[in-house]
Amino acid sequence: MPARRLLAVAALAALTTAPLAARAQDAAAGEAVFKKQCAICHSPVQGKNMIGPSLFGIVGRTAGTVPNFRYSPANKNSGIVWDAAKLDPYLTNPKAVVPGTIMTYAGLKDATQRADLIAYLETLK
Ligand code: HEC
Repeated sequence: MPARRLLAVAALAALTTAPLAARAQDAAAGEAVFKKQCAICHSPVQGKNMIGPSLFGIVGRTAGTVPNFRYSPANKNSGIVWDAAKLDPYLTNPKAVVPGTIMTYAGLKDATQRADLIAYLETLK
C-alpha cells in the first residue's frame, strides 16, 4: 500500500537524521573548529575566495556555483546540493564524496565537531 510505504520511508528518514538532532549543535564551538580547520583556505565572507571558495551561504547551495572560483570538474559537475546530510560525509572524507576534488583536506573524523561545524556553516547567510 503506497501510503504505508511512504510512512515507512518518512520514519526511516527521521531515524537516519536522529543522531544529528540528538544533541544541540553548538554553532559557537563550530566557529572555533572552522577557524582551526577551514579558515586557512575558506572565508565565511560573501565573494571572498581564497584557496577554496567562499563558504557564505554554503548550506543549501549547489556545488561549484561560487562566481569567479576555479573549481575542479569533479566538484563543479557533482550535482550536489550542500545540505547537512551531504556535508557530513563530505567533511568526514572529501575525496570519498567528490572523487577528484582539489580540496586537499584529509577530513574531520570527530562527529561532534562536524555537527558543530555544520551548525556554524548554517549561520553563514
Ligand atoms: C587546504 C585547503 C582547504 C581546506 C583546509 C579546506 N578546504 Fe574546502 N575546499 C578547498 C578547495 C580548493 C575547494 C574546491 C574543490 C574543487 O573544486 O574540487 C573546496 C571546496 C569546499 C566545498 C565545496 C564548495 C562548493 O561551492 O561546492 C565545501 C563545502 C568545503 N570546501 C568546505 C570546507 C570545510 C567546512 C573545511 C574545514 C573543515 C574545508 N573545506 C577545508 C580547499 C580547502
